[in-house]
Amino acid sequence: MAVVTSSFPTSVAVFALITLHVGALDTFIAAVYEHAVILPNRTERPVSQHEALLLMNKNIDVLEGAVKQAADQGARIIVTPEDALYGWKFTRETVFPYLEYIPDPQVNWVPCKDPQRFGHTPVQARLSCLAKNNSIYILANIGDKKPCNSQDSTCPPNGYYQYNTNVVYNTEGQLVARYHKYHLYSEPQFDVPEKPELVTFNTPFGRFGIFTCFDILFHDPAVTLVKDFHVDTILFPSAWMNVLPLLTAVEFHSAWAMGMRVNLLVANIHHVSLNMTGSGIYAPNSPKVYHHDMETASGKILLSEVESHPRGSPDYPAAVNWSTYATAIKPFSVQKNTFKGFISRDGFNFTELFENAGNLTVCQKELCCHLSYRMLEKEENEVYVLGAFTGLHGRRRREYWQVCTMLKCKTANLTTCGRPVETASTRFAMFSLSGTFGTEYVFPEVLLTKIHLSPGKFEVLKDGRLINKNGSSEPILTVSLFGRWYSKDLLYSSCKTSNSAITYLRIFTLLMIVALQNIVII
Ligand SMILES: *[C@@H]1O[C@H](CO)[C@@H](O)[C@H](O)[C@H]1NC(C)=O
Ligand SMILES: *[C@@H]1O[C@H](CO)[C@@H](O)[C@H](O)[C@H]1NC(C)=O
Ligand SMILES: *[C@@H]1O[C@H](CO)[C@@H](O)[C@H](O)[C@H]1NC(C)=O
Ligand SMILES: *[C@@H]1O[C@H](CO)[C@@H](O)[C@H](O)[C@H]1NC(C)=O
Ligand SMILES: *[C@@H]1O[C@H](CO)[C@@H](O)[C@H](O)[C@H]1NC(C)=O
Ligand SMILES: *[C@@H]1O[C@H](CO)[C@@H](O)[C@H](O)[C@H]1NC(C)=O
Ligand SMILES: *[C@@H]1O[C@H](CO)[C@@H](O)[C@H](O)[C@H]1NC(C)=O
Repeated sequence: MAVVTSSFPTSVAVFALITLHVGALDTFIAAVYEHAVILPNRTERPVSQHEALLLMNKNIDVLEGAVKQAADQGARIIVTPEDALYGWKFTRETVFPYLEYIPDPQVNWVPCKDPQRFGHTPVQARLSCLAKNNSIYILANIGDKKPCNSQDSTCPPNGYYQYNTNVVYNTEGQLVARYHKYHLYSEPQFDVPEKPELVTFNTPFGRFGIFTCFDILFHDPAVTLVKDFHVDTILFPSAWMNVLPLLTAVEFHSAWAMGMRVNLLVANIHHVSLNMTGSGIYAPNSPKVYHHDMETASGKILLSEVESHPRGSPDYPAAVNWSTYATAIKPFSVQKNTFKGFISRDGFNFTELFENAGNLTVCQKELCCHLSYRMLEKEENEVYVLGAFTGLHGRRRREYWQVCTMLKCKTANLTTCGRPVETASTRFAMFSLSGTFGTEYVFPEVLLTKIHLSPGKFEVLKDGRLINKNGSSEPILTVSLFGRWYSKDLLYSSCKTSNSAITYLRIFTLLMIVALQNIVII
């Protein structure tokens, strides 16, 4: 079980792949568990290690039920969510009692058999025994603490780096992978590792890669694992808050699997009042099974058979050039009544789908989006628009997005286009969406009324057109091509809570910029 943390000679990788095919499986059953995490009570003061362990054990009791169920049904591997043992609302101090020292997997450790080897690590021992007893691979997300030298300028005041960490145990209970999350999303309790870690491990049912939640929106490690390390399946624990219209969990994650042409196993937290739901098992050509549930408060296990090596499968989708069609055609009559609207903070150029059928183009800077469509019938009170956005996204303006989207507006008032809307009744007899993308990383999204996916009812052609197939659609919320142009991202080193020097420098720079802007305005 190779764990790769840096560059890996290709010859070794090829050799490993060949040897693995001996006794390898063509398909396997995968499981993911959407967990309704039992949260700790809010507290300013750290709880005792004992209290922390009590809470984590309550959560593991629930996960244990899911693990046994998965194993009973023949699953080889189960993914559990990010933050599934203790939740997310912490300071560095209040999370500390929940952390354990997690060694590098190269030490060859079976915590179940040798629980004292690295000090007090009851959580790792229990997870390892769960994997061993049930003869199943388990991915869990826990917290790692790594002592550092307080003389070192980056070492935090308490003498520990603290990491949001995924661990994987094999069927013998051995620790085979450890990954420290790189792209933190408002997590002051954790540190950012020095560089993105590229963590893979091999099994008789394919090569696996790992990352966590917000990481999926960036190039490293996510894209590199697929492109350069040729993993077959990504394990993806998350605590994902849904954001319509473009970033709802099931919608975006299924699109990422399709755009990257890789299996993706997603286990999300279930917490309805924070809009956290949406787990699934996604193959390169279609979602296998997914779950989005804003009604009940309970967790849910999902199982599905997936290909061990999707690249070798006859129905592996062909590579797509996302701009071939869109750059080859003459733009459809560019609309005169283009108007500006917003999805979150991003300013889109929108144009309305006035007729029951038509050909439209809307552009923003270098990106032109083309849509051909025919509605089954135009519903009186439902308005759809075609939108284009290219630029740095959101409040932070660091990530470069290119988006073509056809979406239903919240109401017939055009000022509501781009706001979250969950139901629709307009069905389409046909649609074809394309754009003059400058990036090769585009994720095709189709989201139907009441947050449903549309497996088997759309496809992407090699020339970059996203089209319907197998007849008319169910009522549509959005059809989108979500592009990420990573090389245009603004480079930044994420906030390392420990590194006060950099933080101060950044705040200082920010104040200078604000000051300069004021001077310019004056
Ligand atoms: C939270 O506090 C309540 C009341 O004191 C207690 O009953 C409950 O067990 C606590 N929950 C946790 C997770 O500690
Ligand atoms: C694993 O099995 C052993 C022996 O059957 C048992 O003592 C132990 O409690 C089990 N542990 C877990 C985590 O299931
Ligand atoms: C959940 O999503 C809805 C609409 O999709 C939004 O109005 C609400 O503010 C979100 N809640 C949270 C806690 O973000
Ligand atoms: C995609 O197609 C466009 C237009 O046909 C071409 O200019 C571009 O080089 C192609 N991109 C790739 C990555 O092959
Ligand atoms: C859209 O364009 C296609 C091909 O160029 C044409 O056949 C079709 O009639 C057009 N549809 C409308 C409604 O203009
Ligand atoms: C939005 O569309 C209008 C009309 O096509 C165009 O003049 C304008 O430049 C576009 N906005 C941007 C930012 O490209
Ligand atoms: C549309 O909504 C805006 C504010 O959201 C409002 O000012 C305007 O009057 C509305 N227009 C119509 C026609 O209702």
